Amino acid sequence: MILEANRPKLPSQMLDASTLGLALPGVVALMFEFADGSELSGIGPSSDYIFPRDSSLDRDCVSRNAISGWQHVAVWKPRAAGYYEISVFILGAQLARVLVCLADEPEPPLLAALEEYEIAVSCLLADLQLELLKQEQLREEEGLATLRSRLDATRDRLDATEAVARTGSFRWKTSDGHQIWSRMNYALHGYDQSADSVSYDMCLDRLHPDDRDGFLATVNAAVAESREVEVEYRLLMPDGAVRYVFARAKPYRDGEWIGSLVDVTELRTAEDALRMTQDALSEASRVRTMGELAASIAHELNQPLTSIRANAGAASRWLKREPAIVEKVQSSLTSIIRDAKRGGDVIRNLLTMTLRSGPAIKTSLAQDIVQDVARLARPELIRQRIKLEIKADKEPSFVRADPGQIQQVLLNLVRNSAEAVESVNDGPRLVSIICGRDGEHVRLAVEDSGCGVGEADRQKLFDPFYSTKKNGMGMGLAICRSIVRHHKGSLEYQARQPRGSTFTMTLPSA
Ligand SMILES: Nc1ncnc2c1ncn2[C@@H]1O[C@H](COP(=O)(O)OP(=O)(O)O)[C@@H](O)[C@H]1O
Ligand SMILES: [Mg+2]
Repeated sequence: MILEANRPKLPSQMLDASTLGLALPGVVALMFEFADGSELSGIGPSSDYIFPRDSSLDRDCVSRNAISGWQHVAVWKPRAAGYYEISVFILGAQLARVLVCLADEPEPPLLAALEEYEIAVSCLLADLQLELLKQEQLREEEGLATLRSRLDATRDRLDATEAVARTGSFRWKTSDGHQIWSRMNYALHGYDQSADSVSYDMCLDRLHPDDRDGFLATVNAAVAESREVEVEYRLLMPDGAVRYVFARAKPYRDGEWIGSLVDVTELRTAEDALRMTQDALSEASRVRTMGELAASIAHELNQPLTSIRANAGAASRWLKREPAIVEKVQSSLTSIIRDAKRGGDVIRNLLTMTLRSGPAIKTSLAQDIVQDVARLARPELIRQRIKLEIKADKEPSFVRADPGQIQQVLLNLVRNSAEAVESVNDGPRLVSIICGRDGEHVRLAVEDSGCGVGEADRQKLFDPFYSTKKNGMGMGLAICRSIVRHHKGSLEYQARQPRGSTFTMTLPSA
């Protein structure tokens, strides 16, 4: 590159082309710029002077010479009568751009002031060079400006899309915590976009205190193992508002992660409202069922109880006789035993009756049932900060079952598991639903890391009205087992190590 300071100083009239002889035929101007940035070099007053050639040849020819110490090769190409285009290649240097010149006539005129001329042409070439550089710079700048405006347009589109999807995105260097956020990510976290450097701490500052430990445990584990992570948590805004977000991130390259964050507040609020309605409804129906159950028990038991009382009275009277009439007492006691058994039957039948109608058995896909249950149970579990895991075989498992009733059973088991997890304060908070084939059967199981069931209580688990909970009705497992037996399946309990429970349902496969 020619720097202004390096340019030879010349009287201004020297720049006039005709004074310089530039308008004269045979003048050769050369421009060299080397890939390594070294400077323009060499200049010649005439084509033949610089590039000696055989002028009798009116065709392409090649000449060799040295200018200012540069070995060069010149290629002459006749263009029109008396005009040549000469390309010059410098030997021993990587040439980025070459010259152009037209020799007006093959025979150069004689020039008096050769030295002066050389300087003048150098100067002109410097101008040309400078002009070229400027143009190039301009083109580069235009190119940059075009790129920048395309980039801006893309970013605008991204921002608009993210705003519609209520999604923010980020890049995260886990080594130093440095992050880059999209505009929507700032908005979701309630930060001003002018913050020029974002850090992981800014994200942590917004974490709801109740979700902090769970968030850190999940994210740290994923970072340590360098695997994709999904986590749902709440953001606590400076104004006290709470925002539910679902984030997903994965390693990208060079220790950098990329991820996105969706605002699911509306969804969760709607689910909350739905759940509250459902709770109210199920509470109402529970009260009604209890009432109906009580009325029906009273009615059904009344008769055997009346009979038992009458027989007991009679037996007592026969005993008081002198002498006591033992046969009569015996007969009354037999009646009492019979009536007591009838009472027991009443209760057993009532239990079966709670399954108002028989199951509507059809071929159903177990994986679908599990997905439905997960969808129904997830909002509640998220609120309880319990992770729900689905371990379903990829291969479809078809069962002969009433999908609604099996859903009911699984939901019940999941709810019991969640309650068992809630009752312990430490350790993993995990409930899993397992689904897969097991020979001629399909196995559906619910596992938890909860309090488990003591050895002594295990045989009572499925008994009606057995409950260890303050407000428990103790009918859940009894009804579950009854449903499963109607499906010709089984429902069993196994303890887990180091703690927790597995309830396994086995159903005939289709
Ligand atoms: N996953 C479980 N972990 C520990 N105990 C359980 C679990 N599921 C059920 N139980 C025990 O079995 C009892 C009966 O459960 P259930 O029939 O559903 O009635 P309820 O839930 O109303 O108490 C519970 O009170 C609890 O003691
Ligand atoms: Mg229960």
